[in-house]
Amino acid sequence: MFPTKVKMLLQLRNTLWGCASLKAHCSRLVLGIETSCDDTGAAVMDETGKILGESLHSQKEVHLRTGGIIPTVAQQLHRENIERVVQEALERSHVAPSRLSAVATTVKPGLGLSLGIGLDFSRRFVRQHNKPFIPIHHMEAHALTVRMHLPVPFPFLVLLVSGGHSLLAVARGVDDFLLLGHSLDEAPGDTMDKVARRLSLIKHPQCSTLSGGQALELLAKDGDRSRFPFRTPMGQTYDCCFSFAGLRNQVNMAIMKKEAEEGIEQGTLLSCVKDIAAATQHTVACHLAKRTHRAIVFCKENGMLPSSNPILVLSGGVASNEYIRKTLSIITETTGLHLLCPPAKFCTDNGVMIAWNGVERLREGKGILPPNVDVCYEPKALLGVDMSAEVRAAAIRLPSVRIKIHN
Ligand code: KG4
Ligand code: ZN
Repeated sequence: MFPTKVKMLLQLRNTLWGCASLKAHCSRLVLGIETSCDDTGAAVMDETGKILGESLHSQKEVHLRTGGIIPTVAQQLHRENIERVVQEALERSHVAPSRLSAVATTVKPGLGLSLGIGLDFSRRFVRQHNKPFIPIHHMEAHALTVRMHLPVPFPFLVLLVSGGHSLLAVARGVDDFLLLGHSLDEAPGDTMDKVARRLSLIKHPQCSTLSGGQALELLAKDGDRSRFPFRTPMGQTYDCCFSFAGLRNQVNMAIMKKEAEEGIEQGTLLSCVKDIAAATQHTVACHLAKRTHRAIVFCKENGMLPSSNPILVLSGGVASNEYIRKTLSIITETTGLHLLCPPAKFCTDNGVMIAWNGVERLREGKGILPPNVDVCYEPKALLGVDMSAEVRAAAIRLPSVRIKIHN
């Protein structure tokens, strides 16, 4: 996206991380384990961020068939796969458990039943092999993933958008975040999954194996968004929080109207699915863009980002969406920030991002626990210090920005 800047950052990374003093520590290896939602992931990584081996079991197709994630089904699938996935990651990396320096595992936030499987497995593993344990906050891991490839310095602004969350935060350090805004109801990925399900996109020949977000992105490419002018949420609320439930309601009403017009039952593909997909994706993108724009202005007014080369990081499963990336890039170009996104493969859940978060914490000696310490999982957990009330009090009005993108 910014070839020269990225090249410079890569050169800096190679210089910094290739230097002799750091090479002395390169032998430290971390096993990362992820089970917070519907992906069982594991990876072994060295301290430079090199992936030595990884394995990922996605439950996506099962949940697509059952029409959404049933927590007990997700739990059972994690239970059936965790041992094999971790074993595969270790074998592919040619690393014996005895050579690991630590095990990092997602313990919050997420589905309790899913988190429990990863945590129970990890607890047994670290005790058996007498290894330090690093509990990981799933959203912290999404926020730091970008630093695996580029030495993005703190502080930076981060927009995280996934199936379970949407939030804007200033990342000031590996475990130091200021939360500017978060979703008041559902997450954008959840909304897109539910819209895709309501449209029965699983029956669409091109979409049967895609997540809701992926399906909407694909269909939107040939859609006309102007046929469904949905309202961007929270136009009269001048903060950085998000809301997607109202948009889903607007979309559902439009679908019902079209079904009545076309005389078809719910569960049959509408002729205008591409237009609805394009309009939904566009409205999600505009909502994210407006809240992010306000967060940028708030950060600038309060000196929260560096004046030279300020960065916006976009990550989480929904950040693999190209249209959303392009929309956010209009905002960063307008405001003088640089947009950085991890490669799409690392935006969705995986064990690599957890291993990397473990490496970051290991380097700084933060949150490293002895093998016998008792840790509980937490289905709900904010990221950092909540500043959303201060942002709301600032009531920042934004200049209008024209968002025009070819699908
Ligand atoms: O981060 P993630 O893998 O899991 C959670 O932590 O939630 O995100 C999964 C979400 C799903 O809701 C999925 O529909 C969405 O990310 N997603 C996308 C795209 N790829 C995945 N949403 C929009 N466009 C995409 N290309
Ligand atoms: Zn995630």
